[in-house]
Amino acid sequence: MANWLKVLLLVPALLAAAKPLVDFQVAQPPPLPKGAKQCTVEILQHTFANSYGSPAIVQYTPPTDCGTVGSWTGISLNFTVTSNGTQYDRLGTLTFQEVEIWRTSTPEPTSGDGIIWTHLKDVTRYTPLFAKAGTFLLELDNELATGLDGEYATTLHATFYESSALYPPAPQANTIIPLGTLSNTSTATASVPPQFTINATIPQNAVQIYAELYASGNGEEEFWYYNTANEYLSDLPSGTTYGGGPFREVRLLVDGKIAGAALPYAVIFTGGIVPTAWRPITSYGALDLPTYFLDLTPFVPLLTDGKPHTFAIDVVSAETNHTINSNWYVSGNLQVVTDSSSEPTTGNMTQYTASPYAVTATTGSVGANGDVKVTVKATREIQIESTFKSGSGKVTDVVWKQSLSYQNVQTYASNNSIQASINVAQTATGTMLSTHNGIAAVADTFSYPLNINLTLLTPDGDSFTALFDHSYNRVLQPSPLTLGSTINERQLATGYFAITSSGNSGNGTSNNTFSYADPKGNTYTRQVDASLNNITQDHQGGSLAPSTAILFPGFPLSQLALGSCRLPGGRHFTIQA
Ligand SMILES: *[C@@H]1O[C@H](CO)[C@@H](O)[C@H](O)[C@H]1NC(C)=O
Ligand SMILES: *[C@@H]1O[C@H](CO)[C@@H](O)[C@H](O)[C@H]1NC(C)=O
Ligand SMILES: *[C@@H]1O[C@H](CO)[C@@H](O)[C@H](O)[C@H]1NC(C)=O
Ligand SMILES: *[C@@H]1O[C@H](CO)[C@@H](O)[C@H](O)[C@H]1NC(C)=O
Ligand SMILES: *[C@@H]1O[C@H](CO)[C@@H](O)[C@H](O)[C@H]1NC(C)=O
Ligand SMILES: *[C@@H]1O[C@H](CO)[C@@H](O)[C@H](O)[C@H]1NC(C)=O
Ligand SMILES: *[C@@H]1O[C@H](CO)[C@@H](O)[C@H](O)[C@H]1NC(C)=O
Ligand SMILES: *[C@@H]1O[C@H](CO)[C@@H](O)[C@H](O)[C@H]1NC(C)=O
Ligand SMILES: *[C@@H]1O[C@H](CO)[C@@H](O)[C@H](O)[C@H]1NC(C)=O
Ligand SMILES: *[C@@H]1O[C@H](CO)[C@@H](O)[C@H](O)[C@H]1NC(C)=O
Ligand SMILES: *[C@@H]1O[C@H](CO)[C@@H](O)[C@H](O)[C@H]1NC(C)=O
Repeated sequence: MANWLKVLLLVPALLAAAKPLVDFQVAQPPPLPKGAKQCTVEILQHTFANSYGSPAIVQYTPPTDCGTVGSWTGISLNFTVTSNGTQYDRLGTLTFQEVEIWRTSTPEPTSGDGIIWTHLKDVTRYTPLFAKAGTFLLELDNELATGLDGEYATTLHATFYESSALYPPAPQANTIIPLGTLSNTSTATASVPPQFTINATIPQNAVQIYAELYASGNGEEEFWYYNTANEYLSDLPSGTTYGGGPFREVRLLVDGKIAGAALPYAVIFTGGIVPTAWRPITSYGALDLPTYFLDLTPFVPLLTDGKPHTFAIDVVSAETNHTINSNWYVSGNLQVVTDSSSEPTTGNMTQYTASPYAVTATTGSVGANGDVKVTVKATREIQIESTFKSGSGKVTDVVWKQSLSYQNVQTYASNNSIQASINVAQTATGTMLSTHNGIAAVADTFSYPLNINLTLLTPDGDSFTALFDHSYNRVLQPSPLTLGSTINERQLATGYFAITSSGNSGNGTSNNTFSYADPKGNTYTRQVDASLNNITQDHQGGSLAPSTAILFPGFPLSQLALGSCRLPGGRHFTIQA
């Protein structure tokens, strides 16, 4: 995770603090029926010390005490982790039956009483995987070294909700096909570039195919929204940022043809830019990275020939040659619904309008004082239609449309030849809709505005502040098999960090306004603010709100006596107390 915007926090032991700091990401509790009988099983317990390339691997067998296997009304996971010491934020991937089902990252720990977090996730859409025995794999590449002693002690439980007359079995795909490495010994995620490809054979009686994509930037792509168009990179002091520009599009191609594209939400990990802004409330998405849904059903007539077809996932930029830096981690899965007849589905793709790349434009200016301003814009329209007939005789007309737009404005203001402020204002918006005989199947209307003002207070950049205004607004129906949701989330966070010879200091605030609603009538709202590691207000409401308030202990902020920090210009600091 070497990067100039990545800061590692080291907090000394605290006086008389009785409990670990409770970190959390604002999110809705799983929208599963509290009234249903529940069976909880432990999937795994594992401590990640020096764990690069050494995932926890366990064998899973479905529980038989919560009704017929696979007939559950819902499934949720509880991932609870503690850590004590000093450590970077790390990426974690949960791979089940070769399918990635959860991408997460770790809050940076503290020494003394350490930290603890619990994140609950609704995984009902992966019911076909939970209905059979197989391999569960948690990869969390951690490293111990001098000054880096934080281990991550993890526990993963699954809770199965029994179905009944009141709570019917959840709808489910007939099969889930992994788009990943197919390894039983390491994560399903693949590193791109280069483009990831896999050959897969689709059941010949397929009548619906829904794709889900996982994607996150890492290394030189962790702060991809801060990467500058190559054309202007030489106008900035070397080491200010990386090239490749800020536009990123995650593409899914079927036999070389674009099937759909996603504009990713910018997840900021807890060591990102100013770590004090992300403690104890992580940035949105850090514990449960959003995923992206495309309707592949228009490709059914091309895929039901019983032969293997090539599925490719890549991430491309607005640069002339569309290249990006290293790297993004990607994977995906296809949820396939088959016809009651075993006869092949046949038909035709009747319209295909999708260019290989988005339409993009980069403009910019360089002031006499060295100020640089770069704007990158992109739009994309996709329309793919098919008509096909299932073996049982049903004719389906399917239409898949995407309309995406993107803008990123970077402002690098100089002050006596140092880059004094580095601001980014990005917005990604779009609508996606598929219909099957006129009925909506996949629908996604989203808006992800991101504004960051990073100000270097000293020429060395060893003291800086940042202001984040970041939102996740999404009305999503991943497929007709999966409960949709409307989420509006806004995070206003600030942070200050200073590195001095006598020790580091820092502080942060985070204000969060969150609302959730779904078609089953579940609701949840939360307004929660933190300042200097203290929760200053916390109001939860809606049908999913816990009946007893969860109290988060106050956590005194001590001087950050030790520290290591990466900053613009590639400078790297390690301060000993
Ligand atoms: C999650 O699991 C932890 C133990 O790993 C447990 O203490 C906690 O109560 C669980 N939370 C929920 C909501 O089930
Ligand atoms: C955290 O680690 C330190 C150093 O190893 C140890 O002294 C302390 O007891 C640990 N705290 C907890 C809560 O385990
Ligand atoms: C992975 O496990 C599955 C079933 O558990 C097995 O069918 C497959 O051959 C294994 N793959 C490898 C590469 O070992
Ligand atoms: C997919 O199949 C094609 C044709 O057989 C082959 O050329 C290609 O190497 C295969 N790709 C992968 C990733 O296996
Ligand atoms: C793409 O363009 C960049 C900038 O001109 C260059 O550094 C890079 O090598 C090119 N990549 C490829 C694969 O052509
Ligand atoms: C597909 O196109 C062929 C040739 O035009 C036609 O005979 C067939 O009826 C079409 N299939 C469907 C399901 O529309
Ligand atoms: C943040 O930067 C934007 C430019 O991206 C600027 O318009 C705005 O005034 C800045 N806000 C603050 C509080 O400095
Ligand atoms: C320029 O930097 C100095 C500190 O080096 C700071 O006091 C001053 O406010 C900065 N001016 C601007 C316009 O950012
Ligand atoms: C954080 O510390 C800086 C520098 O001491 C101070 O200016 C700022 O007001 C502090 N912020 C908060 C929220 O206390
Ligand atoms: C956060 O909310 C508090 C009130 O709870 C307010 O004083 C503060 O200015 C807000 N911070 C930001 C960054 O909006
Ligand atoms: C945290 O909140 C508690 C209770 O309101 C207060 O006593 C304490 O001073 C606060 N700590 C900080 C660092 O603001």
